[in-house]
Amino acid sequence: MRHSTLRQLEVFEAIVRYGSYTRAAEELFLTQPTVSMQIKKLTDAIGLPLFEQIGKKIYLTDAGKELHEMNQDIFKRFERFEMIAADMKGMKTGKLRLAVVTTAKYFVPRLLGMFCRKYPGIEVSLKVSNRAHILERLANNQDDLYVLGQPPKEIDVIAETFLENQLVALASVDHPLANEKGITAKRIVKESFLSRESGSGTRIATERFFADLNLKLKVRMELGSNEAIKQAIIGGLGISILSHHTIALDAPAGQLVVLDVKGLPINRHWYYAYPAGKQLSVVAQVFLEYLQQASQLLTDVSYHYESTDHCPLLPNQNQKNSNQFRIKNVSPDS
Ligand code: PGA
Repeated sequence: MRHSTLRQLEVFEAIVRYGSYTRAAEELFLTQPTVSMQIKKLTDAIGLPLFEQIGKKIYLTDAGKELHEMNQDIFKRFERFEMIAADMKGMKTGKLRLAVVTTAKYFVPRLLGMFCRKYPGIEVSLKVSNRAHILERLANNQDDLYVLGQPPKEIDVIAETFLENQLVALASVDHPLANEKGITAKRIVKESFLSRESGSGTRIATERFFADLNLKLKVRMELGSNEAIKQAIIGGLGISILSHHTIALDAPAGQLVVLDVKGLPINRHWYYAYPAGKQLSVVAQVFLEYLQQASQLLTDVSYHYESTDHCPLLPNQNQKNSNQFRIKNVSPDS
């Protein structure tokens, strides 16, 4: 076993990933007989079969599963070493695997754009899913870093805030409450409410806000994305509470208003998190340092809103008697 080369382990991993010798050979630019030969050598060195073929499918044997698990470790450590070596050479190169909750997609890609321009040698992959899925990934240590609206209680993590996240009530511009001031939460729960899907962090925070006031929302519809909710609001199906980040960039100009509700916005924060005890890669550490400047970097972006005095979030308040906001200037490259 000690004589197995890293190449043989790479070949083995590629076969596991694709479930096919042919595709593994393609990925590694090898011929299929070479792949078979490498696996034969590895199998001989271990003295146990690693795969079994049933019909056309290849399955891992118990020994194969153990080897696969050990490989994950070896390759991660190897990747880490490569990054450390690159760092010692003064280069920032390597991979950054990020997983973020749905709502963070409104600002994380923008931050990543600036980050990648600064460190062109860093390759980034970004997974976007709702809170429940992101927590599953975090528990399984599948990524380098996570961005979410609230650190989990059930998993031991290192977490820190890096940006504000305010949840606001949104309605269509012609909604009867659109121009009212000081709307009570009691009044809000009489309205048809559009809720995010279960597992969403936005939904959990919203439900908690009303539960603390002993109030219950009248949920008319559950929708699986912030975008679908915004369209449903415009379609007159109801109102909702979403992060103010969701009204950035692609806000349907002038069709949504932020309601002036007492007790809102719900003041939350964005957190980065990773499992306690995890050894962060050099690249992940560089990204964490970069995140410290997130709020400053995002205020520099080129989209601004105009809003009235009863839109508490949006800085430009010079448009009296209308609480519409609109995008002034969007330039994806800045
Ligand atoms: P969500 O999470 O996109 O799953 O709603 C956002 C949050 O946790 O604030």
